[in-house]
Amino acid sequence: MCGIVGYIGPQDATPIILNGLRRLEYRGYDSAGLAVLQNHHIEVRRDAGKLSKLEALVADSPVHGHIGIGHTRWATHGAPSARNAHPHLGMTGEVVVVHNGIVENYIELRDELSAEGVVFNSDTDTEVIVHLVERYISSENGLVEAARKAMSHLKGAHGIVVISTREPDKIVAARIGNAGGVVIGIGEDEMFVASDMPAILEHTRQMVFLESRQMAVVSRDGLGVFALDGEPVPYEIQNVAWDPVSAEKGEYRHFMQKEIHEQVRSLTDTIAGRVDFEAGHIRLPELNLTPELARKIRKMYITACGTASHAGMVGKILIESIARIPVEVDIASEFRYRDPIIDEGTVVLAISQSGETADTLAAMEEARQKGATLWSIVNVIGSQAMRISDGYISMQTGPEIGVASTKAYTAPLVDVYMLAVLLGELRGTLPEKKRRVLVADLRLVPALAGKCLDREPQVEMIARALMNTSHCLYLGRGINMPTAYEGALKLKEISYIHAEGYPAGEMKHGPIALIDRSMPVIVIAPRDPWYEKMFSQLEQAKSRGGTVVALATDGDELIAGVADHVVWLPETPWMLTPVTSVIPLQMLAYHIAALRGLDVDQPRNLAKSVTVE
Ligand code: F6R
Repeated sequence: MCGIVGYIGPQDATPIILNGLRRLEYRGYDSAGLAVLQNHHIEVRRDAGKLSKLEALVADSPVHGHIGIGHTRWATHGAPSARNAHPHLGMTGEVVVVHNGIVENYIELRDELSAEGVVFNSDTDTEVIVHLVERYISSENGLVEAARKAMSHLKGAHGIVVISTREPDKIVAARIGNAGGVVIGIGEDEMFVASDMPAILEHTRQMVFLESRQMAVVSRDGLGVFALDGEPVPYEIQNVAWDPVSAEKGEYRHFMQKEIHEQVRSLTDTIAGRVDFEAGHIRLPELNLTPELARKIRKMYITACGTASHAGMVGKILIESIARIPVEVDIASEFRYRDPIIDEGTVVLAISQSGETADTLAAMEEARQKGATLWSIVNVIGSQAMRISDGYISMQTGPEIGVASTKAYTAPLVDVYMLAVLLGELRGTLPEKKRRVLVADLRLVPALAGKCLDREPQVEMIARALMNTSHCLYLGRGINMPTAYEGALKLKEISYIHAEGYPAGEMKHGPIALIDRSMPVIVIAPRDPWYEKMFSQLEQAKSRGGTVVALATDGDELIAGVADHVVWLPETPWMLTPVTSVIPLQMLAYHIAALRGLDVDQPRNLAKSVTVE
């Protein structure tokens, strides 16, 4: 998970950058590098592997200067290697860039720049950024203007930091969307830049957080913040408490809110290193999935508890549809007591954020004894579930502290998607053309999540309208039926409002009797194959007097004409709609609970990791 550190001031930049990167190590990474301006020249040191390798490089070939930037990289485009590690230097050697995020349109930009004669030295998407800055830098355009113009070409969500020999007295940093934050630390006659506060907290507590589409021009003794159109914007200096927990919370009121906002980054990290966009392949090496095993599988069980089981329900639809393997989803506490039919052609996949949930571990044990192949999707590295599995996928979301699971729900949605594609390829059920499309769609995920997050003010307004309700019904179908379950679970666990998720088609078999003016109905109706059915369900709920909140795709006038409130979702490939449709529901639950003044991060009676039966 990428991290950024930058420094400008009287001290030697190199140790400050290395220390800062060390403090971001917990996020995980596969290569590291730094660039320092030394005697009017940019010196870059970078390598694949751990920070100790970078430190050894720097010890062998020291570099000193008063301005520099550093980066830890978690590979997305291009394997972990020295040439793909950041920082990336331009052709003239005058500009250098570090970057978090994915440049969605990098192939078009690379082709355009190559046609202009640019020679690329890495396989990364990031490298287009430095060449774009170089394209614009000239006697008329300084670094700031050149960086601003470069950024106007980028699609996706990004945190970017640039320095140049042309203007050795400044660092330019920008945040576009939610690919992690950009924070400026204000010192005395020195300034710091980072993706995360822990990197610079030992130097200062005075922080300025960039909003999306803002750019900071940082010099030793000054800071200017601008919108990406060049207009100056006012900024607020926040005095951050010297407490690691609140420091970790950063600009957010609660961990849950922070973790909801971290999803652009956690989803970027989820696909990092696992997707070969050029060849259209998925790599999940820790799963130990051989072509022989893939062909041998006759049946899969997905077992999990709570939120994780909802991710499993989405997995069932994806694996059955793409890899044509029958899948049953079992609540772990039931699976272990119902004597499931398992043989050597069975794979049992456990999904668990903590990897320590007692019921899930017991279900895994049951599967082990019956001779199944045991896989897991787990967030906590080294947890029991991971250790006892024959193969695993690690979620790559980083620690999840809020009791209500958010980023550890969307990551396994993408994991099961990738698993389905890989199984489909190995079993020959997924034609190459379709596989390439499904793999290419993954590139869109982080930015789509970012678009959902951008709509938080709209969701907050709806939260105000619903905050005093006593009940709420969530309806979904098909791949978004689990979204209804998950939305309802989020609301009930943190706001203590009774909420039920229901398969929309079941309404007429009973629950429709509940609908009246006091029952808000949340209808999840993105443009997926169940859209028309959902629309008629929405009309039925409306005609019975319910207050209808619809989740609908941008521009859906039909739904806008019927629903009382609409939360707009970005157009999303249908197999990935569970990712985009759940984010507004996480925000809705969060804001309702926060408005009710509840302890969002530690709701009553709940524990983060349920290690008892
Ligand atoms: C809900 C939630 C729980 C967990 C469940 C399983 O927000 O967090 O429902 O999903 O207790 O936990 P893990 O994934 O750790 O096995």
